[in-house]
Amino acid sequence: MSLKKEISKRRTFGIISHPDAGKTTLTEKLLLFGGAIQEAGAVKSNKIKKGATSDFMEIERQRGISVATSVLAFNYRDKKINILDTPGHKDFAEDTFRTLTAVDSVIVVIDVAKGVEEQTEKLVEVCRMRNIPMIVFINKLDREGKDAFDLLDEVEQKLGLTVTPLSFPIGMGYDFKGIYNIWEKNINLFSGDSRKNIEDTIAFDDITNPELDKIIGEKSASDLRDNLELVYEVYPDFEKQAYLEGKLQPVFFGSALNNFGVRELLDCFIDIAPNPRIKKAEEREVDPFEESFSGFVFKIHANMDPKHRDRLAFIKIVSGTFERNTPYLHVRQGKKMKFSSPNAFFAEKKEIVDISYAGDIVGLHDTGNFKIGDTLTSGEELHFKGIPSFSPEHFRYINNADPMKAKQLYKGIDQLMDEGVAQLFTLELNGRKVIGTVGALQYEVIQYRLEHEYGAKCTYENFPVHKACWVEPSDPKSEEFAEFKRVKQKFLAKDKHDQLVFLADSYFSIEMVKQKYPSVKLHFVSEYK
Ligand code: G4P
Repeated sequence: MSLKKEISKRRTFGIISHPDAGKTTLTEKLLLFGGAIQEAGAVKSNKIKKGATSDFMEIERQRGISVATSVLAFNYRDKKINILDTPGHKDFAEDTFRTLTAVDSVIVVIDVAKGVEEQTEKLVEVCRMRNIPMIVFINKLDREGKDAFDLLDEVEQKLGLTVTPLSFPIGMGYDFKGIYNIWEKNINLFSGDSRKNIEDTIAFDDITNPELDKIIGEKSASDLRDNLELVYEVYPDFEKQAYLEGKLQPVFFGSALNNFGVRELLDCFIDIAPNPRIKKAEEREVDPFEESFSGFVFKIHANMDPKHRDRLAFIKIVSGTFERNTPYLHVRQGKKMKFSSPNAFFAEKKEIVDISYAGDIVGLHDTGNFKIGDTLTSGEELHFKGIPSFSPEHFRYINNADPMKAKQLYKGIDQLMDEGVAQLFTLELNGRKVIGTVGALQYEVIQYRLEHEYGAKCTYENFPVHKACWVEPSDPKSEEFAEFKRVKQKFLAKDKHDQLVFLADSYFSIEMVKQKYPSVKLHFVSEYK
């Protein structure tokens, strides 16, 4: 098959949601449709369960599962689908943001009863900023929930989206009868005593057809007609181009648990979702159909076995093909590397493959060569943009608790930071190291992993920081910038890329800097240019 055909059939996407909205359940149902798994319950949830075990043992459990679910690939109709896993837990939000740099589109799952929740808002905002095409799936229609129009309003207002429903529910909860599929112009009935089965798909081009009353009852038929009239009046027509540009978001309703509305979602997704997209590098835009290979590391996963310190670096192929045993340029290190056992992902398995195409993810065994954001190419010096660090929420000094193991400690910290577990800041004044994390759980993880994987011990000390701000002086040689550095020297640090960061102790001190040093810009994201 030609390069063009192979790349055109790839659909690489992520499912995002607030925990418990049904992401795992939907993923599983999609895999069932693809024939990639045979039974429900096969996909393990990667969420941190509350309960018997400590949160932190849960993280270790989660880490084990997330190796298996990092990429779930399967074929459906004539397409190759790659689902990239995104952790729902808020302490892992940064992981999810990074994974979103590797997707070409997303499906947003919303719980019909809970509506738009906090984690969904944050994730959708990132997708919106990058114009990632989004489809919304409103889940759990078998339960009582919010009115469909109220929910559509909420999605528009809270998420800042412009929606157009491509399906519409007939009743809800106890009265849930099925779904009218606006996209395919048919009705799916939800029925049976257990109400777990899809009875039939009935084509209905014309919903004024009196047959409808016989099938779903007069009241439901009349409600559906009224609702659809309103839908056609209020919402814009679906336009594929607007969806692809991130300007319009189609909405589907269903129940993932009951496998209801899922096939419709998948069939529409296959038709409209984009194949790999053009990606911006600092030097130029890279087209997926270019023959020469390029890709970037968006995730690094440490081996679960502490005795083998090898890691799996996940590369999103941006253009061309990645071939086994072929030398590629590791741009940051300026050296050529060959990989004898690149892993490709199928459902929940990984296998060594000879060739992968733009859109695919390959997992490369790594002994410490890769950092998140690294670029690999056929030879061109490219640097892909778009893997920013966000200001952490928590900050603590890290101290060495075993002076004999200083080397192990620093190596461990270095490698854990390369994996993106947390961010390291080194204070300008005294060289002390400060760890910044999105959630408090990460401190336990770091301590545990330093001890078990590197044989090093650490302690923490509180460091009251409100926000990390990346500093951009309009003139690095100006008097004003020199004064800023002198006055604030206690709060200045370097991040891992040697960028200057102001660790502000309060909202107030940020405002003061803005007023006093107007030529010094403060950014909450590391990649601001
Ligand atoms: P997540 O990955 O987004 O966190 O959510 P997950 O799929 O694990 O689903 C969260 C809970 O919601 C699960 O119940 C799941 O069975 C349920 N659920 C998912 N889709 C539907 C649906 O369409 N209808 C209904 N009624 N429930 C749904 P749980 O009790 O937490 O877990 P389990 O013991 O059932 O696995």
